[in-house]
Amino acid sequence: MSLPSPSYNDDRKSFAYPTVHKRWPSIITLAIEDLEKHAKENPDTEGCVEFVTGHLKTLLSNFKEDKPVDAFTDEDVQAKPELKIYNDELKRFNDAKLVTWQTGPWLYLECYLYQLISVWFSKTKKLQKYDIFEPAKTGAFKLSGTGVVELCQRVKLLSQQLAEKEADEQALGLLFTEFIDISLWGNATDLSLLAGNFSLEDIKSLQGAEVRKKNEEKIIVNDTEAAWKHYLSSKRERIDIVLDNSGFELFADLCLTLFLLEAKLVKKVVVHCKQIPWFVSDTMPKDFDLILAQLEDTTFFDEVKEDKASQEAIKFFLDKLKQYTQNQQIGVQSHQFWTSCANYWDIPKIKDLYEELQKSNLIIFKGDLNYRKLTGDLHWDTTTPFTTAIQDLASSGLPVLLLRTCKADVVVGLPAGLNEKLIEEYKSQGNEIGEFWTASGKWAVISFSRG
Ligand code: F6P
Ligand code: MG
Repeated sequence: MSLPSPSYNDDRKSFAYPTVHKRWPSIITLAIEDLEKHAKENPDTEGCVEFVTGHLKTLLSNFKEDKPVDAFTDEDVQAKPELKIYNDELKRFNDAKLVTWQTGPWLYLECYLYQLISVWFSKTKKLQKYDIFEPAKTGAFKLSGTGVVELCQRVKLLSQQLAEKEADEQALGLLFTEFIDISLWGNATDLSLLAGNFSLEDIKSLQGAEVRKKNEEKIIVNDTEAAWKHYLSSKRERIDIVLDNSGFELFADLCLTLFLLEAKLVKKVVVHCKQIPWFVSDTMPKDFDLILAQLEDTTFFDEVKEDKASQEAIKFFLDKLKQYTQNQQIGVQSHQFWTSCANYWDIPKIKDLYEELQKSNLIIFKGDLNYRKLTGDLHWDTTTPFTTAIQDLASSGLPVLLLRTCKADVVVGLPAGLNEKLIEEYKSQGNEIGEFWTASGKWAVISFSRG
């Protein structure tokens, strides 16, 4: 079967278009500002900062002038062999049509962009491990105090109830749905979108139970029940979460993790992180350590730092988290495949990763980018079954559950007519391009493939 084409940056009806013209430039501009601030506070890094900001500024003009995209040098590939696939892919795209910033394939170029930035940092003496996006990540999480406390209280109450009385399967099913929803809507707060659509203040309005309830009808594909039934029929030993963003989303994923462990639905949860700063807000292993430190710091969340009950709820959550991390019932892994440009239907070809994931009874993929990589970011008709769009992964033996708020073009698994209806609805809300409902972050999908 021949595959549909991917989203390209010069398609005005693709969210790629505002991405290359507005969102990337604003992400890079903010990063330059944060780096320059870092140099002022750490004068010994000035030279390194100048080296990186010089490259970033050239990159900004390359976007504007629509320059062709260069392959990574031999030296780069030698230092980081995982870049070879980027060069191979670039050649494949270039053979069809010269790849430029404003016209090239969106998903490929967006991954390439974050690898490129990482290569520049790796060439400095003092900023090799520096996460250019950490100030933005921390700033956003600091504003999440109210949402964090609400969920810590929920987890605390539930843990106490579960300790007093074992829940039956029906109750556990309802709780599973509740915590899947918490983890899903955690994905609505994404820093790479803040560059265009949301203000930091908007974050707060995305994080509470009331909002989740109101948003139920916005989940336009919902396979939670099928995933739950499938999981119940498995050995119920291990669940994996391929993480997306750090901060509030990671926190929401850890709520799901604690629920699974406290309800004894699972023996171990393994979370998968990115090895390099990725799509602004994605979780790296150090962000996992950082969230523990942030929850430990009683002054971190301004809104709740004076409130004793809030602090107690956070402490309860943190102690549980530490306990499960120390006894390795929560495992943290990172594989370089997650920052490759390859689609996820290639997972069965990546021997060590595939073997690791085969140990899992359910693999939860979080967020928009994971969805784009699962479906290849291709122009699938919206009624295409999820299991068709994820290609070989659907017959790989890996049970995949995807939780995503829609922030890009591709959506599959919809009933006939729904896309057209939502295009009209989004237009009638005053948006010029109705097709951008798929990128607004206001709708969500939960898709399952039993593998
Ligand atoms: O569309 C906005 C965007 O930056 C996409 O480029 C990307 O797919 C997505 O957001 C990242 O979102 P998430 O953090 O949910 O993967
Ligand atoms: Mg992300």
